[in-house]
Amino acid sequence: MDKMVKLTCVQLLMVAFQATLITMSSAELPYDFYSSSCPKAEETIKNVVYNLTDANPSIAAALIRLHFHDCFVMGCDASILLNSSNANPQPEKSAIPLAGYEAVDKIKAAVEAVCPLTVSCADVLAFAARDSVSKSAGFSYHVRSGRRDGNVSKASSVFTNMPSPFFGIEDLVGSFTRKGLNVDDLVALSGAHSIGVAHCSGFTNRLYPEVDPTMDAAYATDLKKTCPAPVSGAPDPVVNNSAVAPTMLSNQFFKNAVARRVLFTSDAALLTRNDTAAKVQENAGDSLLWKVRFAASMVKMGNIEVLTGTNGQVRKFCGAINS
Ligand code: HEM
Ligand SMILES: *[C@@H]1O[C@H](CO)[C@@H](O)[C@H](O)[C@H]1NC(C)=O
Ligand SMILES: *[C@@H]1O[C@H](CO)[C@@H](O)[C@H](O)[C@H]1NC(C)=O
Ligand SMILES: *[C@@H]1O[C@H](CO)[C@@H](O)[C@H](O)[C@H]1NC(C)=O
Ligand SMILES: *[C@@H]1O[C@H](CO)[C@@H](O)[C@H](O)[C@H]1NC(C)=O
Ligand SMILES: *[C@@H]1O[C@H](CO)[C@@H](O)[C@H](O)[C@H]1NC(C)=O
Repeated sequence: MDKMVKLTCVQLLMVAFQATLITMSSAELPYDFYSSSCPKAEETIKNVVYNLTDANPSIAAALIRLHFHDCFVMGCDASILLNSSNANPQPEKSAIPLAGYEAVDKIKAAVEAVCPLTVSCADVLAFAARDSVSKSAGFSYHVRSGRRDGNVSKASSVFTNMPSPFFGIEDLVGSFTRKGLNVDDLVALSGAHSIGVAHCSGFTNRLYPEVDPTMDAAYATDLKKTCPAPVSGAPDPVVNNSAVAPTMLSNQFFKNAVARRVLFTSDAALLTRNDTAAKVQENAGDSLLWKVRFAASMVKMGNIEVLTGTNGQVRKFCGAINS
């Protein structure tokens, strides 16, 4: 909570208000979908997210990333959460290792205890990502709800829909544009790389055989200590996404980018086009501006290709389609 009070009330109001204004036109889902069917849903989710994150701060990053991966592959429909089964041996989660699944199961179980079969896993993830932002960044925003859970989940669609850390700027912009997200969203959301960790294999291409000249030389030297030249079969250690304040979601990512102290080709690529580079500079220089943009872009991301009405289902367990 002490992080929260660093923002004045006026700033928090501005973030909430401006994010609402920016997103009002893209209305698809209602606010407070559960106001009568499960009035305690959001409060329950928030309590569990806060408790889990207090015990293990890395959970906030994991939940934010899970929501991103869910939304980019077949829309925000909790397809990322489906386990492999005889009927579907290669679901999305078999394609890329992600963290946070156990946390989602705990959050969902707490919600099921207050309102059985009412709150979708897709909404649990959207709210949990929002609460992870508020816990790790100290600002919050309204999330629309009423998403339903899909029952299609294919590893193959991960490879065609997720941006790669080896992408250059044109591929990144293309990947976001196909999801209805623009250059501002791409840059603002990349701020999530101020928290969490990354495996060396995602960026050793910038360290070996020689250091990428667009990476700060001292940073590269530091990274090489944890990340030796890749050898097949060798372990793949992790480093913090940000060398500064790695558990606080903030505009630090943009300061890092300007200082050329970011990990991925895709992170550094944001400086390779005038329009994205200008946004990086703005976000680096104005924390409040970035918060407003990040909140609005998270809301927008949370609306990608959602299932509503009688499409899909509300799963009992996020890891399996209801039997
Ligand atoms: C722009 C394209 C993006 C690419 C290419 C990308 C790629 C990656 C990669 C390779 C990792 C490291 C994973 C690992 O080695 O374990 C990572 C971590 C992470 N990404 Fe992204 N990402 C992108 C955008 C986003 C967005 C839009 C968000 C959320 C809004 C996000 C949130 C995160 C978080 C929070 C982590 C740390 C996860 C953890 O510590 O558990 N990323 N990303
Ligand atoms: C969260 O933790 C507090 C204090 O440990 C506890 O009283 C509360 O019941 C927990 N809430 C949930 C939803 O787990
Ligand atoms: C990563 O961040 C954590 C949390 O702040 C810190 O304890 C750890 O030392 C950092 N690791 C490195 C390699 O800096
Ligand atoms: C990008 O900015 C540079 C320097 O300001 C300018 O020379 C160049 O024409 C710009 N390129 C585009 C595509 O706008
Ligand atoms: C998939 O979801 C629909 C609801 O849209 C549901 O009726 C159906 O039983 C589900 N299919 C499977 C194989 O579980
Ligand atoms: C999905 O798999 C995880 C990991 O094996 C397990 O903990 C979880 O209970 C499974 N969920 C369902 C619904 O089977």
